[in-house]
Amino acid sequence: MERGILVIGSLNTDMVVVAPRFPEPGENVHGSDFSMVAGGKGANQAVAVHRLGLPTALLSCVGSDVFGDFLCERLRSCGVDDSLVKRSREVGTGVALIVVEEGTGNNTIVVDPGSNYALAPSDLDALDGHYPEHAAALFQLEVPLDVVVEGARRARENGLLTILDAGPPRHDRLDVVEHFDVVSPNRAELAALTGEDVGDRRSVARACGPLLQRGVEAVVVKMGDEGALLATSEGAWQFDPFDVEAVDSTGAGDAFTAGLACALVEGREPPEAVLFANAAGAAAVRVLGAQPSMPSRSDVDSLLDEQSPGVRRL
Ligand code: RIB
Repeated sequence: MERGILVIGSLNTDMVVVAPRFPEPGENVHGSDFSMVAGGKGANQAVAVHRLGLPTALLSCVGSDVFGDFLCERLRSCGVDDSLVKRSREVGTGVALIVVEEGTGNNTIVVDPGSNYALAPSDLDALDGHYPEHAAALFQLEVPLDVVVEGARRARENGLLTILDAGPPRHDRLDVVEHFDVVSPNRAELAALTGEDVGDRRSVARACGPLLQRGVEAVVVKMGDEGALLATSEGAWQFDPFDVEAVDSTGAGDAFTAGLACALVEGREPPEAVLFANAAGAAAVRVLGAQPSMPSRSDVDSLLDEQSPGVRRL
């Protein structure tokens, strides 16, 4: 039986508005195209894993409200099992307020984590019995850190590859990475974790050093429209970006990390896995909304057939 990827993470209702530009503090900008979309880094990654063709299960927490119903229904309609999604009676479902800038696809996001912070280490007991079906466990930093640390510890104990998407930024918690084989931050998240300068590619590569020193085998930095960077104990490589029309970058990092996890579970070597992840992230940028933009296997394969962005050793 093909083993899948266990995802332990967040579910949010994303309230999305498109605007011609981001407002200045105190300014009111006329937007358009409001939509309520299923999101949350954990759920986005579980949906992406499923669309990329690997089995997945999501441990998460929503509130006992209409938003929780909406998110669970969306998961099921995407084919992702919601039986490990807990319901909090005390706290409402997490919400993300998202503004997408027309023309660039850049976004700003404010998250109220709500019930995502009601997930507790004891909820990890629900995973007992699920480990043998999975080859890897995928985490983000949108749920309490004690859940992330204990979850990764248990996943490792059960022989799973542990992968951390280091978003959203968490300052001064470099210790968390010790529990992971692979860590994938974006630039801002890498700077938050390490306190290092990430101004240019060489400094990004240098900033991966503290993670490698703490036992991480591969650091894969998501660089947005500059592509990606892979750092291992053998050196660092720059991956140029795919050329796509950017509609909305929301969730592109989630598609990237899910693609990376799938490729590693399928046995690809890190450089090949980063290329696949880079294509998955680029495919997601072309569609508005987080979960709606998670790419299928054929979306990613088509981009890989059409384009061959350069790879250089730094
Ligand atoms: O990574 C994108 C996600 O971040 C959005 O779906 C939003 O919910 C926030 O958590």
